[in-house]
Amino acid sequence: MTQYVINGGTPLHGTVNISGAKNAALAILPATLLVDGPCRIENIPKVTDVTLMLEILRDVGASIRLLDDNTVLIDSGGVRVGSVAPYEQARRMRASYYLIGAFLARFSSAQVAMPGGCNLGVRPIDQHIKGFEALGADIHVKAGSIHADARNGHLTGSPVYLDVASVGATINIILAAAMADGLTVIENAAREPHVVDLANFLNSSGADIKGAGTDMIKIRGKKRLNGGTYAIIPDQIEAGTYMAAVTAAGGEVTLNNVIPKHLECITAKLTELGVDVEEFDDSILIKREGRLRKANIKTLPYPGFPTDMQPQASACLSCAEGISMITEGVADNRYRYVDELKRMGARIQVDGKVAVVEGVRRLTGAPVQACDLRAGAALVVAALSAQGATEIGGVYHIERGYEDIVGKLRGVGADIRSEEIPEPELLTANAT
Ligand code: EPZ
Repeated sequence: MTQYVINGGTPLHGTVNISGAKNAALAILPATLLVDGPCRIENIPKVTDVTLMLEILRDVGASIRLLDDNTVLIDSGGVRVGSVAPYEQARRMRASYYLIGAFLARFSSAQVAMPGGCNLGVRPIDQHIKGFEALGADIHVKAGSIHADARNGHLTGSPVYLDVASVGATINIILAAAMADGLTVIENAAREPHVVDLANFLNSSGADIKGAGTDMIKIRGKKRLNGGTYAIIPDQIEAGTYMAAVTAAGGEVTLNNVIPKHLECITAKLTELGVDVEEFDDSILIKREGRLRKANIKTLPYPGFPTDMQPQASACLSCAEGISMITEGVADNRYRYVDELKRMGARIQVDGKVAVVEGVRRLTGAPVQACDLRAGAALVVAALSAQGATEIGGVYHIERGYEDIVGKLRGVGADIRSEEIPEPELLTANAT
């Protein structure tokens, strides 16, 4: 079993190269199922969720050729109607539900395991189903899998008004509508950068998608999409996480390969805490010297403060001067990491969607467990500022979404190492 060991207190100095966006890659890779001919996808992050998605695509018949760690050649010509994503793999990741939209678009039918992914409380998919049904699909669940079939053998464009500006539902409906007959209009659509990246990829293949990045997206279905080359956008949450690391540990770090516009809300909030951020074309310089100031945060869909940065921000506020308040406005239950931060001396009270953080002078290192991807990132951020050593278990959660986080942090002077420890012995029946 792998753990990270971090000795905190060293300010960070140097440069971090940000990888491609995990959540854009997890939408664009299944979208290659809609395309005739090979697609060369560049700047994919080398993270386990992307590896899993590539394995699933290979298992349903796509030819997958990794040209290097971050470039893949995909040809889905070999995928046949009725192909089914392997249940045990698909259930491990929420993004596998994008295969429903992709298979519906290509074959007018789909069978995919109910989604898994980070445990953030209730994560329904009713808005996805609302969109598929609006396009003319019948949906039912059988033996843990979602079955979708176009009622008259093909999907027909339709207006869909989302009750929630759901990222996943917006992406899934774009996938299904890209080859449907006629016009689909998604209202109250999610505006995240990875929604735009998917639309840009599909349009580069010949699709007709307008309005991505706004709350109204129009998709005119096309009969055929053609392969080509496409580079994934940089990961704004990975970049935000390293901004939080400098905020917590102090120092001065340049982040390369970023789109500053995608970071605006994170930059604005960290500036409130007392951090200096200088923006360039495709990089930012972040610096923190003095004590952090308190701030209030409410997470919202893009362009609001991202929910995927909420745990990391809490770790920073744990050492800010004064009392801060965090309101989780997107996920159902995203404070499971708080108990672990409390082991490090954080003073956080959670009541439903609200967390009140009383800043302490300094956290102290402790053995802690990551319980999901961004919770694990928050523990890394906290450990970088803490006095003494922190051992973080469950790092497989972190490696789902962060490429080479140990190497990148060591590259800016963090005292962090990854080490193998024996699996805890399971208690046996005759244990005394
Ligand atoms: C995506 O999840 C991301 N995952 C999440 O990132 C991210 O936290 C989330 O968007 C919000 O930005 C991927 O892109 C793979 P949603 P998703 O549908 O699509 C409710 C990470 O750390 N909702 O926008 O599941 C839902 O309960 C991961 O990288 C419905 O009610 O997010 C939630 O409260 C964690 N009905 C809210 O909307 C639905 O049908 C936002 O969910 C769908 C969602």
